[in-house]
Amino acid sequence: MPPNLIVVRIDGRNFCSKFSEVHEFEKPNDEKALNLMNQCAMAVLEEYPDIVFSYGYSDEYSFVLKKTSKFYQRRSRYPPSFLSCIVCCASLEVLQAYLAWRQRDCHFQNQYNTCLWELVKKGGKSKIEAQEILKDAREQDRNELLHQQFGINYNDSLALFRQGTCIFKTEVEDIVKYNEDGTPVKRLRRKASTFRAENIAGRRFWNAHACLVKELGNFSKDCFKINPDYIRSFVFESKLMPSTWIVIRIDGCHFHRFSDVHEFNKPNDKQALDLMNLCGLAVLEEFQDIVFSYGVSDEYSFVLKKDSQLYQRQASKIVSAIVSFFSSVYVMKWKEIFQNKDLKYPPSFDGRAVCYPSTDILLDYLAWRQVDCHINNQYNTCFWSLVKSGKSKNEAQNHLKGTQAREKNELLLKEFGIDYNTLPLMFRQGSSIFRVKIENTSMLENDASSIVKTETKIIMEYCNIIELSFWEAYPSILD
Ligand code: GTP
Ligand code: MG
Repeated sequence: MPPNLIVVRIDGRNFCSKFSEVHEFEKPNDEKALNLMNQCAMAVLEEYPDIVFSYGYSDEYSFVLKKTSKFYQRRSRYPPSFLSCIVCCASLEVLQAYLAWRQRDCHFQNQYNTCLWELVKKGGKSKIEAQEILKDAREQDRNELLHQQFGINYNDSLALFRQGTCIFKTEVEDIVKYNEDGTPVKRLRRKASTFRAENIAGRRFWNAHACLVKELGNFSKDCFKINPDYIRSFVFESKLMPSTWIVIRIDGCHFHRFSDVHEFNKPNDKQALDLMNLCGLAVLEEFQDIVFSYGVSDEYSFVLKKDSQLYQRQASKIVSAIVSFFSSVYVMKWKEIFQNKDLKYPPSFDGRAVCYPSTDILLDYLAWRQVDCHINNQYNTCFWSLVKSGKSKNEAQNHLKGTQAREKNELLLKEFGIDYNTLPLMFRQGSSIFRVKIENTSMLENDASSIVKTETKIIMEYCNIIELSFWEAYPSILD
């Protein structure tokens, strides 16, 4: 809601338990991993001009959008993925308290982890023993432990670890070109840079940056007391209705441009669709609650089972986890599919969650997506055939205006010798990936009896999901 300041916080999913282990991050801090996070945040700032301030540490980053933002009309080996939440800061004081809270958390976590890994690496303790030692230790006790046992002055450790990183744009003088006599021509440009400070929520740091004061306002007081419950009360939570089918639909951002830059075949690029399907498959393998998914063009719909309790049905968490996982797999698998083509810039996807209260309405939704696939594909096949035959895009568009499905099929057959119904099923019907239960019966040796084992398998088909016969053939999908 305007005029709230919007903060979007993203937080690595399974980073502690899996991602950092699989990739052997250094403990307690991996400088390279943190620098990678900072570079990502820098790219996010460059991509989205509405972000005026950001702060990150460990596996999390908070992005502050300017007050006047209309961004999306304010709607709300192991691939990395992130969970997001949105905080609606009703006043600048809330934002100040929020930043103080995150930086305090950065400090506590870092101090705790520094102690923990010193005890493990140099103190010869097991992780559980170290956790036990630190259980009731206060801030001061931890500093003393580091100092006395390991000769470490906590305040000497890297500011990157202790304070986290802020990124925002300031006006800098840039050389745009040189005159013929060699003198530089300078111009003011807004450029994102990293900043660090002991207290990013303090007046001294904040008010010293004119751009922050101009975009967000100045801090009139310092913020000493932090009440996390107060800040949490501003977290925007949208819980999806219980006992309904949740559909998460993700869609490529500006894929018109993305497919041009990467020279995808028109109207359909089999490899691009294969890549989308690999990502869809990986999502089903990662998120057990997804029972069915349907993909076409640059979009994918994922259906979660009715009683799913994934992230307590919080929309922003479910959407962000699936979208970020999908995007990561897309980047990781790119070379598997496009061996001779480089990925020129990172793809991104948006996502939304919709609840469908009954199975009939869910099937209507899926039928709508498949009808859309058919209509678009038939139109695009005609359009690109006309363009490839020498017509301009405008002429092709006018030629097709008002034509019915039958006329389009006739045009394809008569003018281009294409029988629409023989085109690949993947293009005409989209791709469905789903979980089915399969019963395996095996005979026991030396015994006449048999055992039945139920296995769950993930299947991909290019099938007609509008007809009920499909759902009758696989009743276990929507069980
Ligand atoms: P937003 O989703 O609003 O960000 O815009 P968008 O450019 O992604 O357009 P939209 O999602 O409405 O449509 C998807 C676009 O992706 C199509 O219009 C195509 O330009 C492109 N696209 C998707 N699949 C293919 C493909 O197989 N080949 C080619 N050439 N383009 C494709
Ligand atoms: Mg798109």
